[in-house]
Amino acid sequence: VNEVLLASVDGELLEAARATIPVADEGLLRGDGVFEVVRLYEGRPYALDAHMDRMVRSADNLRLPFDRLAVEADVERLLASGRPADALVRCLMTRGGHRIVLLEALPDLPDTVSLATVTYSPTRVLDGVKSLSYGANMLAARLAQERGFDEALLVTPHGHVLEGPTSSFFWVRGDELLTPPLDEHLLDSITRRLVMRVTDAREHPTTLADLERADEAFLASSVREVMPVRQIESRELALDGPVTAAAASAAREAIETELAATAKA
Ligand SMILES: Cc1ncc(COP(=O)(O)O)c(C=O)c1O
Repeated sequence: VNEVLLASVDGELLEAARATIPVADEGLLRGDGVFEVVRLYEGRPYALDAHMDRMVRSADNLRLPFDRLAVEADVERLLASGRPADALVRCLMTRGGHRIVLLEALPDLPDTVSLATVTYSPTRVLDGVKSLSYGANMLAARLAQERGFDEALLVTPHGHVLEGPTSSFFWVRGDELLTPPLDEHLLDSITRRLVMRVTDAREHPTTLADLERADEAFLASSVREVMPVRQIESRELALDGPVTAAAASAAREAIETELAATAKA
């Protein structure tokens, strides 16, 4: 869990330690709610609109009342009252009707990660919902860490490779950059979209057997951007792979360009 620097609950700014919601909130009791995590660069949120668009879709799909303008105002107020250079903003909407916005410290990010495969079946009814029900994702990461790996790679019982518990997955075969298709019930990740826009990456159903032939791989998420994978189970991958390096710098450049454009606007 990242350090919470400042909180907003239902529009009220609070120190993290004073920010509370009622224990009867079904967001807590049942993980019934939606969330987003946005990265800040020098205090400026990247792709906030895309995150808010997805939060609206998540809430609609979950039949959860959601006030986008109120959440956007909460974010703005939070950012106006102290903008650390590089941090995260987490937005939650609970079934109990509470709007929570947290300013979080950016966690220490490793340069590379090792992945252990964990068997996982996406919950169909939650397609298109970035819900608060992340217990399974957190457990998957913990199971991978128990085995000495950094992170989990979620794989269906039929051997289809999906994504990480909080990131998208890309892999390289020769000079082709591939990523599992969204219709395998993955999160429609904003960073995945970004990588697909700035590279030649394409969707390709990916099996565990395919990964035996992977030359490079990386995770992608708002928090991590492009993070090289050095190992998947016992297979070691190319470090400093050229396709990963190109994707990382193209993504970074696009982020900087978009941030500069919003700063001017
Ligand atoms: C399951 C899952 N996949 C992918 C991602 C990456 O999404 P984004 O690029 O929108 O941060 C996340 C982010 O939390 C996630 O939870």
